[in-house]
Amino acid sequence: MSNVKLPPHMGLEFGNHAIKLAYVEAQGQNFVLKSLVAREIGKIGMLQYVQKQQDRIAGIIKEMVAEAHVPTRYVAMAIPESSVFSQILTVPNVKEDELTEAVYWQLKPLLPRPIEEFTKDYILIEHDHETGKRKVLVIAAPLNLINSYREVLHKAGLTPVAVETEILANVRAIQFNYKVGGGIIMDFGSASTDIGIFINGKLVFSQSIATGSDLLTKAILRNYKVTYAQAEQYKRLYGLDRTKMQGKIYKVLVRIMEGLTAAILRSLEFSSHDLTQDIPQNLYLAGQGSLLPGLKEYLLETLHLESVQIVNPFLRLSVPSALAKYKTQLHPEFSISIGLSLKRD
Ligand SMILES: Nc1ncnc2c1ncn2[C@@H]1O[C@H](COP(=O)(O)OP(=O)(O)O)[C@@H](O)[C@H]1O
Ligand SMILES: [Mg+2]
Repeated sequence: MSNVKLPPHMGLEFGNHAIKLAYVEAQGQNFVLKSLVAREIGKIGMLQYVQKQQDRIAGIIKEMVAEAHVPTRYVAMAIPESSVFSQILTVPNVKEDELTEAVYWQLKPLLPRPIEEFTKDYILIEHDHETGKRKVLVIAAPLNLINSYREVLHKAGLTPVAVETEILANVRAIQFNYKVGGGIIMDFGSASTDIGIFINGKLVFSQSIATGSDLLTKAILRNYKVTYAQAEQYKRLYGLDRTKMQGKIYKVLVRIMEGLTAAILRSLEFSSHDLTQDIPQNLYLAGQGSLLPGLKEYLLETLHLESVQIVNPFLRLSVPSALAKYKTQLHPEFSISIGLSLKRD
C-alpha cells in the first residue's frame, strides 16, 4: 500500500482450506506464469494456524516454495477479509492534508479495539466539490494478526514486501484478466464468502459473510448418513443441480444458499445507499467454492444480475505447457495469489 515499486515477488494466499502460491514474471508486455502450487492445510481454522501452528505452516510453505522452484524469497501476502474492518465513511469538508487525521478520528470509535492495534488505510471514493464532503472506504486490519503472518513467513525463510486485503488482490486479478472497470466480486471460500464492489477501477465496498462452502458439506453430513468425504463428493458432483438425485442434495444446499444470498442482497442494498454511483450488475466468482454445480445459474436468478462468471485468473497470462491445465480448466481458487503476484506498487 505504498508507492515504492516492488521487487519481483510471489503471491501467497493463506486460505482456510488451502494455501496458494503463484509467481508471475513480467517479460516485456507479457506476464508469464512461472510457478503455481496449492496445499491443503487441514481443518484447524485460519486464526489458529497462524498463531498456534506457526512452525507447521512455515514448514508447509517452505516445501511449497521448493516444489514450485520459486526464484525469489519475496512475498506479497493477503489478509483474510474476515479479519478486516472496512466501512464507507463520509468525511466533512476538510483540507486535503487534514483528510488522514479526519478519517482517523471518525474511525477510532468504530473499531472493536484501540486504534493503535490496527494498520489503517483508505481509498477515496467520491469528492463532492460543492459541499467539500468526501466519501472514503476505510480499511483497518489487526496488527497482531499481520505480525503472526510475518513471523510464519520469516520462519519459512521468506520476506514479506507487501500486505493487502484479499478483496484488493481479487480486484487486481479480475481487472488484469477481464479489462473491466467495475463489477461485484464474490469469493466463495471454505469458511467465508467475501463480497467486494469495484467501480472505475477502485474498490468501494467490501464485506465478509461467515458462510463458506464447508457449511454446504456439513449440511449434507447432517441430513444423510455419509462420511465427510462422501458429503464433499456429493456437493462437488451435484451441488445446486435440481435434476440430480431427485433434487435431494439441492434441497439441503439451497437452504444454506438462501441465507447466504439474503446476506449478499443486504450488502448490495446497504452499499447502494452509501454510494451515488450505480452498483455494477456483473458478478465475478472467485474461490474454489465457485465450482459448485448450478451456482452461476442460481446466483443469476436470485441476485437479479446481468451476468455471473467464474474467474479464470490465467486468462491473459502466458502459461507454460507444464501448467497449461490451469488455464484450460477453471481454477478460481488462484485468483488472490495471482492478483498478489501482479501487484506492482
Ligand atoms: N468442485 C467443487 N465444487 C464445489 N465446491 C468445491 C469444489 N472444489 C472445492 N470446493 C470447496 O471450496 C472450498 C475451498 O475453496 P478455497 O477457495 O480454496 O477456500 P479458502 O481460500 O478458504 O482456502 C471448500 O469448501 C471446498 O469444499
Ligand atoms: Mg480464499
